[in-house]
Order: sequence, then structure tokens, then C-alpha cells
Amino acid sequence: MPTETMQSETLKSTIRDPRVVAVIERMQAERRRPPTGGPRENPEDSHNPFDYSDIGFSIHPEQGDLIYMLCRGMRATRVVEFATSVGMSTLYFAAAMRDNGGGKVIGSELVPAKVATAKRNLVEAGLADYAEIREGDARQTLRDLGGPVDFALIDGWPLDDEGPSLALQVIKMVAPQLRLGGYVMNDNAEPDFLDFIRDPQNGFLSVTLPQKGDRVFG
Ligand SMILES: C[S@@+](CC[C@H](N)C(=O)[O-])C[C@H]1O[C@@H](n2cnc3c(N)ncnc32)[C@H](O)[C@@H]1O
Repeated sequence: MPTETMQSETLKSTIRDPRVVAVIERMQAERRRPPTGGPRENPEDSHNPFDYSDIGFSIHPEQGDLIYMLCRGMRATRVVEFATSVGMSTLYFAAAMRDNGGGKVIGSELVPAKVATAKRNLVEAGLADYAEIREGDARQTLRDLGGPVDFALIDGWPLDDEGPSLALQVIKMVAPQLRLGGYVMNDNAEPDFLDFIRDPQNGFLSVTLPQKGDRVFG
């Protein structure tokens, strides 16, 4: 049982920590899109993640706040994200881990330059101790999460072939490593991911939330 002192200590640190806010605000100010839209908006654009090493495709602050609140509410201490990019979602997860009294976000990112940027952002926010970013293809690096996780963000990347989406491939790998009662958040509503998550046989309940201004996603 937490004592009153412990509770007030926990309540003191929140996602509004000025050091974290400063990094998020800078990243927001630097946010930009590829001139022709990017691989999800424009099928003609390159689908090679290495062509976008300086573009975050990051979640938006209201999504980050939701991640933070859910992680705080469920007292999460082990969470995973596919993928990390330049570390925006990682910051919200890592802040929640710290403010829950300790924990780890396991990140994954294919592009080494993005891993380096994400690590710099975490250091600047004072949150580096709460993140482990695994460099490489998440289909390999997230195979073994070392124990049950409380929360998984599936925020992936479009492939240029007709096969299963990366989101589906990764959730199939991560779902057995999710604890009972754990949460999954997905940003891009890949149709085969939604089919999986909405199939009652797979044991999930799902809702679609309107976020990111005028966009709706699952
Ligand atoms: C939408 S972004 C992630 C944004 C991040 N969650 C955030 O909010 O800051 C998708 C990322 O997936 C990465 N990626 C693409 N294929 C990957 C793979 N097979 N394994 C790991 N990362 C991959 C891309 O380089 C890109 O940075």
C-alpha cells in the first residue's frame, strides 16, 4: 500500500516536467512532413525507411498524453513500442515509467540515425535511464521482450508489397508477451491489424478513438 508521502512524491512528477516539455515542444516545432506526403499518403513516395532518417512521423501530443495517462493509471513498468523513430512516443512512455517509480520502455527502430536522435532526445529530457532502444528490424528485435509487458504501441510503417502489414506481423509476435489486462495502441489502422485485434478469438476488446484533430484511427 502506498503511503501518503509516497503518493504525494509520485504526484509531484508528471508529464508536465519542464525538461520533458521543452524537448517535446522543440520536436513539435521541428516537425515536418515529406514534401509529397510520405509513403502512407502517397503510394508513389519511397517506402524505404532509410530515405526518411530525419523525419519523425511522430505521434501527436494528445496521443502522447493518452499513452502517459494509461501507463500511469495501470501502473505500467514494462512497455514496448514499434517503432521508436526519433523518440516522441518513447518520451511519453519513459516519463510514465519514471513517474510510476521505475520501469523500462523497450523501443525498436530500423534506422540507426533515428536511434541516435531518439537517444539524444531522451538524454536531453532526463529520461535515458527508462528506455532501451533496440536497433534493427523489429520483427527480430522484439521477438523476446524478456517477460510480460503492460502496454504495446504498434505505430509502424507501410510495406511496398501485398503481404501482411508490419503492424500485423509485430502484434502477432508481441500479443503472447502482453500481460493479461495489458493495452495495445495502434496509430495507422492497418486493415489486417484491425481484423486481428477485432477477432474475438484473439482475446482483445477494441475501440476506435478520434484523435490527431480531424483524423480517426484505431
Ligand atoms: C510512424 S514512425 C514511428 C513514430 C514513433 N512511434 C513516434 O511517435 O515518434 C515508424 C517508424 O518505423 C520505422 N521502421 C520501419 N520499418 C521498421 C522495421 N522493420 N523495424 C523497426 N522499425 C521500422 C521507421 O524507420 C519509422 O521511424
